[in-house]
Amino acid sequence: MKYIKFILLLLTLTSCSIIYSTASLQPPTDVKAEKLRSERLPDCAACRVLIESFQKGIEKTKRGKFEGGDTAWEEDNQKSYARSEVRLTEIQENLCKDVIRGEIQCQELAEDLETAIEEWWFKHQDLHPDIFAYICVDFTARCCQKDRWGKDCSECPGYPDNVCGNNGKCRGAGTRKGNGTCHCDKGYTGEHCSECDKKYYQSYKDETKLLCSSCHEACGDGCTGAGPADCQGECKKGWVVDQEKGGCADVNECVKSDKYCPGNQFCVNKDGGYSCLKCDRACNGCIADGPDMCVKCADDYEKKDNICINPDILGRKQRENWARYATYFGLCLATYIILQGNVYAASAIGLMVALYISVSEYMIANTNVQDTTPNVDFLPPTN
Ligand SMILES: *[C@@H]1O[C@H](CO)[C@@H](O)[C@H](O)[C@H]1NC(C)=O
Repeated sequence: MKYIKFILLLLTLTSCSIIYSTASLQPPTDVKAEKLRSERLPDCAACRVLIESFQKGIEKTKRGKFEGGDTAWEEDNQKSYARSEVRLTEIQENLCKDVIRGEIQCQELAEDLETAIEEWWFKHQDLHPDIFAYICVDFTARCCQKDRWGKDCSECPGYPDNVCGNNGKCRGAGTRKGNGTCHCDKGYTGEHCSECDKKYYQSYKDETKLLCSSCHEACGDGCTGAGPADCQGECKKGWVVDQEKGGCADVNECVKSDKYCPGNQFCVNKDGGYSCLKCDRACNGCIADGPDMCVKCADDYEKKDNICINPDILGRKQRENWARYATYFGLCLATYIILQGNVYAASAIGLMVALYISVSEYMIANTNVQDTTPNVDFLPPTN
């Protein structure tokens, strides 16, 4: 009896934990959607969302009409539908349903502004066709028109065509917030974003457009153009002021290679720096890659015609070659001897011998690429 109770308890616990885990596995997307739905947007943005949804409704009901009737009747009908209460109701029924961020806020605002929107629909459409301006700017005073900011909808710097030099954003533009100053894009500065920032130079300018581009990485200060020679003032690490031509010039660290790349390495100069690469394994110290660039040869290697090679490997290779050529010679000799007795047999064997030699030479030539020992006097680079 005790055991049964215990097993029942265990079963309950297991099923509970399974239910719990499946329940907690499922929701993430729902939780996210719900979070977006209940998000609160700033005043102006919320109004904009509502009006955009309303305008989508207008678009969707553009072709809508009362049902039934012939063509002539329909045309008349279409006109009356355009401004009808039926259409407005249809739009309002679906209002905010397409909104993902801040849907709840949109519904609340739609309720608050229902009367105002109705007023616009029936009375002001003709005089004020822009419903956004009517509702969000004038009626609720939540927004401003484009490129205007703050309580009184003041003009942004450079209004209307050259707001913030077209190289920045006016703080609070389109809303009743902000302070109307410019937040310049990267590379621009000044009250109207009409100057190039530090480490940028003016690459184009006319009455309406200023273009600033980044200085070369070598420049520590400013510049007059794109290259390292156009730098002005200081240079970054790895570069020096060019005394003759001006600007910055790359430092060739490899002149003092042994200082920068110790041990069995050689130095490769780069713009603004250098890198150290491993010498060929035939070398003990080198000035560049390859067995012909060694300062000294590695152990087991000897210098021959200015190249470090391994005499053992070379000797073995030579012996192998001799053996091979001797075999070929033997085969040819045998063919020749047979030739004295039987011409047909000799030509058949000769053909086979020729084929054998071609194939084996071909194989040797191809496998040598992967051969780690040098074939004749060339050592593949090791790194
Ligand atoms: C305007 O606002 C920005 C940030 O919102 C602030 O950094 C800046 O100092 C303000 N400028 C003035 C003149 O108040």
